[in-house]
Order: sequence, then C-alpha cells, then structure tokens
Amino acid sequence: LEAEVADLVRRLGRDGARPLLGGADPERALEELLHARRSHYESFPSSVETSAKSVEQAAAAAERLVSGEVLHVDRPECRQTIELRYGALEDLQDMLRERSLTGPLVLLTDENVNRALGSRLPQSIPTIVIPPGEGLKTLASVELLCGELASAGLDRGGTLIAVGGGVVGDLGGFCASVFMRGVRWVAVPTTVLAMVDASVGGKTAVNLPAGKNLVGRFHPPALVVSDPLALATLPERERRSGIAEVVKHAVISDPSLLARLESASSFGSLPDIAAAVSVKVKIVACDPLEENVRATLNFGHTIGHALEAASLYALTHGEAVAIGMVAEARLAERIGVARAGVADRIREVLARHGLPTAYAGAAPGSLRALISVDKKKAGSALRFALPADIGRVLHGIVVDEALLAETLAEIASG
Ligand SMILES: NC(=O)c1ccc[n+]([C@@H]2O[C@H](COP(=O)([O-])OP(=O)(O)OC[C@H]3O[C@@H](n4cnc5c(N)ncnc54)[C@H](O)[C@@H]3O)[C@@H](O)[C@H]2O)c1
Repeated sequence: LEAEVADLVRRLGRDGARPLLGGADPERALEELLHARRSHYESFPSSVETSAKSVEQAAAAAERLVSGEVLHVDRPECRQTIELRYGALEDLQDMLRERSLTGPLVLLTDENVNRALGSRLPQSIPTIVIPPGEGLKTLASVELLCGELASAGLDRGGTLIAVGGGVVGDLGGFCASVFMRGVRWVAVPTTVLAMVDASVGGKTAVNLPAGKNLVGRFHPPALVVSDPLALATLPERERRSGIAEVVKHAVISDPSLLARLESASSFGSLPDIAAAVSVKVKIVACDPLEENVRATLNFGHTIGHALEAASLYALTHGEAVAIGMVAEARLAERIGVARAGVADRIREVLARHGLPTAYAGAAPGSLRALISVDKKKAGSALRFALPADIGRVLHGIVVDEALLAETLAEIASG
C-alpha cells in the first residue's frame, strides 16, 4: 500500500510513538526511509495507491488485485475464458476442477520453464518436458508428442495443459487440435508475449521449412491461466521483447496503457497484463477468424518480419517488431495517415523499455525484397496496418513505393 509522505505523516501522527520517526522532522525521516527501501518496494509486482482513497476504497482495490480478473471471448468460433491471478500456478488443479476440466490430464512444458517454475506446478499430473525454442515447432515434434500423449494416457475426455511461452502454446495447442481428432487444452502462458498475445485467439501452428506457422488450426484453449508471478524468472531480453507487443496493443486501442508505459520503468503487474490482454480479447471478439479488424494486430509486423529475417534472427521477434513499428509509424506520417509526432512517441516509449528502434544491418533493397517474399508466403497483397493516432490503427492501406523506399532507408538511423 503506497501513500504520499504528507498523508503518511498525518496518518502516523506526530506524537513520537513511532521510534523511527521520533525526531524533529518526521517528513524527512520518512523520505529517507522510503528512499532506502525504494528498490525493494519496486520489486513488488503490484501496489495500491491509497492517498486519495478511504480505508474501504483501499481495501476494495487491494481485494480486486488479489482476487484477479477474468476475461471472456464469447463467439461461436472462439470461446475462451482467461483467468489472471497472482499465485494461479499453485491453484491450477483447483481451477481445472472448478471448470470441470477433469479426466486424464497431461502437462506439457519446456526445460527452461520446468527449471524455473516446475516446483510451482501440480506434481501429480504426468508431465512431458521438451527442449526450448522455435526449432521444436515442427511436424516431426507433433508426431513424437502425440505418441507421448497416447503413452501418458490422454484420451478424448482429457485435457492437455501447455505451460510455457508461445512455442509451447503453439505446439501444444496444435497437438491438442489433431490428437484423437481434437482434445481440450489449457494454456498457461509464462512469457509476456504469450500472456498478452499468443494465448488469446485460438491460433495454433507449427513451422515448415517454407515458412513460419504454415501448418496450423484455430483451436482455442478452453481456459487460459495467467500468473504474473511466473514472469519473475523470465530472462530480461524475453521480457523486453514481449513489451513490444504490449506497446503495439496500446497503440491499437488503449491510449491510457501507452501513458502508463510512458511513465513506468517496469511492466508485468496483474493490472498491466490485464490491460494489454484486453486489447487482444476485444479484437478477437470482433473478428475471431481474422477476416478484418484482426489485421490491425499486424502493425509493425510487415517491416518487422523482414527485419527479423534480414538479421538472420539475431533480432528477436519483439525487437524486430519494435523497429518495425517505428518505421511503419514514420511511413504513416509520410503518407499523411498519422498525425505528426505519433512515430516519435512510439519510438520514445520503446526506447524507455530498452527496445531497439533502429537497425543498421540491412540494406533498404533487401528489406523490400524480404517484405515481398513474406507477403507472397502469406498469400496476401502488400497492405499495411498503420496508426492514425495513439489508440487508432487502420488496416488494408496500400502505400506508394517511393515513400516506402524512403522509410526503409531511414531505419538505419531510427
Ligand atoms: N498463436 C498465436 O496467436 C501467436 C501469437 C504470437 C506469437 N506466437 C508464437 O509464439 C512464439 C514465441 O513465443 P515466446 O516469445 O513466448 O517464446 P518462447 O516460447 O520461445 O519462450 C521464450 C524463452 O523463454 C523461456 N521461458 C518461458 N517462460 C519462462 C519463464 N517464466 N521463466 C524462465 N524462462 C521462461 C522459454 O523456455 C524460451 O527459452 C513464436 O513461435 C510465435 O510464432 C503465436
């Protein structure tokens, strides 16, 4: 619980009953204590500001935080419940029971997640642990895994629980979609990207040598369980990469989330995750099968995918998308779609969270060629999703080649 120093002094009184504040200047003593403890307090995943609240209001805010949030996508093509709760990993088995997700259960995770979080997961559920990384998203893994699911006793009445980042979610979800012609699955995302993006919307897939996610199905998890405390063990670069997608969500439709990112130096509390995932929930609810507005989620990705490939994957997906968003926002300003200043605002917030906003390692010509290859693979024409303002992204925009070339040339300097 946090409060302004003046309020703390008022609440504590000046009668000298508190030994640490007993001197002549309690304000100064409190400020020094707060200063000394600041980094410890900042390590807490959440806090409640109480200065402007009554006792009842502060208690209600704390209760909301502890009991978490439940979000729903409720369309015939995609029904999902997303539960966000601190400590949800420990409550996983109860949550499955509450939702009648009984029958044989099998848990899938990767080695890193198992090392970091395995002790918090239910020990009684048979667990398959795979090596980490995008390289596992193959049809060969699907064959192996489906064999292991059969050996572990999963049947049509059972549930596969995929605990990990987007790789475990995409691979596990795809296996669940084909094993015995489809079994239920639960997503337990453990990266920022998987919590705010990959776990919502029902897309599952594996890669082919010809391209990423070329074999896949819409097969939404019956339940998504997100525990923001799981992010504590996430490597810093993975955390930053996920924040790129959060900035994207804020630019698409949540100016207050962008303002929060502009003033905060950290991200990952339950209200943060709830705000970021709500944007995806809203979009998927409007367009469950990716026929129209879901294309706004491609903001930053047309140029981002080309950068990822041009760097030979030295840039993570999130880093490439960060640079891509700045470039595409500049393109939007150049063609008169965006208000002046939008690109700078996006660049500054990304830089504040440690993300790159320029890349000098790719020639504009080769980026342009990679954009064409990517679009051809996706079977789509070259159309961009571009911001008009913070909170409003338009999709299906055709751009002038000369202006695109100028924008690509600018990427080296940001
Ligand atoms: N289905 C969708 O809608 C969708 C959307 C976006 C991305 N994706 C897919 O998501 C994948 C990327 O996902 P990602 O960024 O989560 O990467 P990831 O799954 O590879 O996880 C990143 C790394 O962090 C480790 N890790 C995960 N959680 C951890 C934790 N809590 N503590 C310690 N280590 C942890 C993993 O082992 C891995 O090494 C891509 O394959 C992409 O195609 C899917």
